[in-house]
Amino acid sequence: MPDSPISAEVEIKPVDAQPQPVYLKDYQPPAFRVSHTELKFDLAPSATRVSAVLHMERHPDSAPGRPLELDGERLSLKRIAIDGQELQAGEYRVDEARLTIAEPPERLRLETEVDIDPASNTALEGLYLSNGMFCTQCEAEGFRRITYYPDRPDVMATFSTTVIGDAETLPVLLSNGNPVERGELPDGKHFVTWEDPHPKPCYLFALVAGQLEKVEDRFTTASGREITLQIWVESENLDKTEHAMRSLKSAMAWDERTYGREYDLDRFMIVAVNDFNMGAMENKGLNIFNSAAVLTHPQTATDAAFQRVEGIVAHEYFHNWSGNRVTCRDWFQLSLKEGFTVFRDQSFSADVNSAPVKRIEDVSFFRTAQFAEDAGPTAHPVRPEYYIEIGNFYTLTIYEKGAEIVRMLRNLLGWDAFRQGSDLYFSRFDGQAVTIEDFVACMAEVSAIDLGQFMRWYSQAGTPEIDAHGEYDYANSAYRLTLRQRTPPTPGQPDKQPLHIPVRIGLVGTKSGDDLELTLDGERLGKECVLHLREDEQTLVFTELAEAPVPSLLRGFSAPVKLRFPYGREDLAFLLQHDSDGFNRWDAGQRLTMLALDDLIAAHRNGVEKVMDARVTEAFRGLLTASTDDKAVLAEMLTLPSEAYIAEQQPMVDVDAIHAARDFVKRSLATVLRNEFLTLYRANQSQADYAPSAEQIAQRGLQNVALSYLMSIEDDEAVELAREQFEAARNMTDVRAALTLLVHSSRGDIADPALRAFGEKWAHDPLVMDQWFSVQVTRPQSDAIERVKYLMGHPAFSLKNPNRVRALIGAFAGQNPVNFHRLDGQGYRLLADVVIELNTLNPEIAARIITPLTRWQRYDEQRQALMKAELERIQAEELSPNVYEVVEKALA
Ligand code: ARG
Ligand code: ZN
Repeated sequence: MPDSPISAEVEIKPVDAQPQPVYLKDYQPPAFRVSHTELKFDLAPSATRVSAVLHMERHPDSAPGRPLELDGERLSLKRIAIDGQELQAGEYRVDEARLTIAEPPERLRLETEVDIDPASNTALEGLYLSNGMFCTQCEAEGFRRITYYPDRPDVMATFSTTVIGDAETLPVLLSNGNPVERGELPDGKHFVTWEDPHPKPCYLFALVAGQLEKVEDRFTTASGREITLQIWVESENLDKTEHAMRSLKSAMAWDERTYGREYDLDRFMIVAVNDFNMGAMENKGLNIFNSAAVLTHPQTATDAAFQRVEGIVAHEYFHNWSGNRVTCRDWFQLSLKEGFTVFRDQSFSADVNSAPVKRIEDVSFFRTAQFAEDAGPTAHPVRPEYYIEIGNFYTLTIYEKGAEIVRMLRNLLGWDAFRQGSDLYFSRFDGQAVTIEDFVACMAEVSAIDLGQFMRWYSQAGTPEIDAHGEYDYANSAYRLTLRQRTPPTPGQPDKQPLHIPVRIGLVGTKSGDDLELTLDGERLGKECVLHLREDEQTLVFTELAEAPVPSLLRGFSAPVKLRFPYGREDLAFLLQHDSDGFNRWDAGQRLTMLALDDLIAAHRNGVEKVMDARVTEAFRGLLTASTDDKAVLAEMLTLPSEAYIAEQQPMVDVDAIHAARDFVKRSLATVLRNEFLTLYRANQSQADYAPSAEQIAQRGLQNVALSYLMSIEDDEAVELAREQFEAARNMTDVRAALTLLVHSSRGDIADPALRAFGEKWAHDPLVMDQWFSVQVTRPQSDAIERVKYLMGHPAFSLKNPNRVRALIGAFAGQNPVNFHRLDGQGYRLLADVVIELNTLNPEIAARIITPLTRWQRYDEQRQALMKAELERIQAEELSPNVYEVVEKALA
């Protein structure tokens, strides 16, 4: 085939054109569908030739005259033909976003050839190079950077993909499905052809080529089929795949057991890559993972990393049904697959680890980060109505709030009906691209529950607030509980309608400490019930109560709302001891600590002496001295709310007061309860060989939480304990905990040698070096910015690697509030400078890392002005749609 570029008129975009939003209400089915896609890649770093044959026909619902439009960006078109006939100039049109054929036949075989440049692809969307290895990321709209195609999830085709590459530098050539042919070619090249028999949207396409090695295992499905499981990594990481493989097998068995879902191809592959924008991607049969989301080794990964890997491996695997077999009609439906799949992975992790701890972790993260998103300028409904850049909508709202909605459905229906609804959804829509209504309709159908009002959860942004109050009527032995709901306005949604909110409650007897029998309107409901709050305000009267109760509300976080109740501190101390709901017991402790923190924050602001609330100290003493059967929950109970969590609860964030107040609580507890913490530390010091088991993780959790209290005083004995642990520990959890405490203390004499030793020992391992960067830049001492600047010049730092950017810049801006919010504005300036550079290198990462600056409304006037000035400086640049959309909202 001659290589001469063909002529095509390229339309010039008007210079001042601003990115335009896409609206859900404008959805139209595609004009043409693709039944089969044949791809051929001739791989070369700077000029990869992609040949495509698309078997297309007009969509039955399409108006006859509609032209054929194919998305395509950054492609250099070399050839185009229909049914074997080369197209002439004038028969098609190319601009920077698409290829248009005005008068196509009703059925056609479209052939194109394009050249693309993976080596210069720093956005990491489409086909790019990572460490010399070719890989792809197509969700949401990356496939259009590979070839001309209707790049939308409602176009589903079978794929046949031939990958050609240099046999020596690219010995492994992977794509979706099953390998059907392979062979040698001239010039030292070789090829493999892959066939994926399951129709899929192009966002699930994947290709990987490079010097990779595999670990292989097998899984026998419930129906007796043998599946080959492979994890492909660079050779030095072969010893870090065991946990991911074990997690995969356990997820496969769980999905069969729990949802009746079996895997559907003969092989399932996972590949680890170093440069990846997100955690991982569920491409059909060939999941591509950020190496941080798949590789673990006791010496290099913490317990948290082990658990994260388990959850993400399961998440991507579960997508094979919730996402791939049944996919989204359009990207507004993103939560259809993500919310459901997050709910599935959360349930899996809860089942295989400690269920209450999993819930506590998920909810404290949710209340910190999703609540903040839902209260900020980028707040959006779980199903947005418009977007400029879909890449900006892979958010906590779509994922985590979406999962909370599915959890509410499970709770409303009960597991059995929910499972029936899920079965109906998978069977009715298998092989289709559908909507959130389709999913909810299945749930309504099997349960006969009216979910009309419930649908508002998908369309209304913002966190609903419930104000509750209650009174015990001694004369009538009745408890009167009033619940009032309100959702605050969010951008573009000034008025909100009442939601259908399930509130799980119990009434704990103040004399007995037991859950009381609940009687409502003469009906006996047992010891716990779910109230359906649908109105703005509802009052319920529980009768036949022999003693006055303390209400335990929103048990298990039964709805993603803020619930306020005027608890006294005695009530909270009581619930902390007696609540039968483990989650609410933890929550009572959090609320009690928060009340004390509020006082201390006020004291700090007013320059008054801080006094520790003795009730908190006594509650902690109780936790430390009572014998416990659940170490995992105890470790959570002893953990103080993070500064970010505290900030989220304040009307205005005062970073210095929050830091000082939290520090004060920690040191006060450590001073009074020093012996108890020391005993706890000694009783839980790791001895056994490392295993990521729930039991060991709980034990290390207790050991390290105890050490963190002891170290808050920084006396010689505590420092010596931390130093000993740093030197003696053989697992990263204990090493990193000790290192962090040393580096975050003011004891540079010991921290510096420890850091140096750590950095030298692990210089070869990028995932450990990420931790080395993070530990330093989250240091609360006042030299943190200088540290960040210095480390940005470190030879191991690169703005092109998203993990490094997150480890250094993301950790500094997100987890070091006192230094990021320095009053000289240096923290803000540093972040803005990085955003401006990333805007051209990697817009998706730029638009994410900017988040802390967009939250300016939450701070004092001086900081607001500094933050806005940086946003305006960014706005003056020539912006990617990603950054443009976020900055516009932040400054609106
Ligand atoms: N579907 C992937 C997951 O949830 C995430 C893909 C995100 N892609 C993106 N460009 N933001 O596992
Ligand atoms: Zn997902």
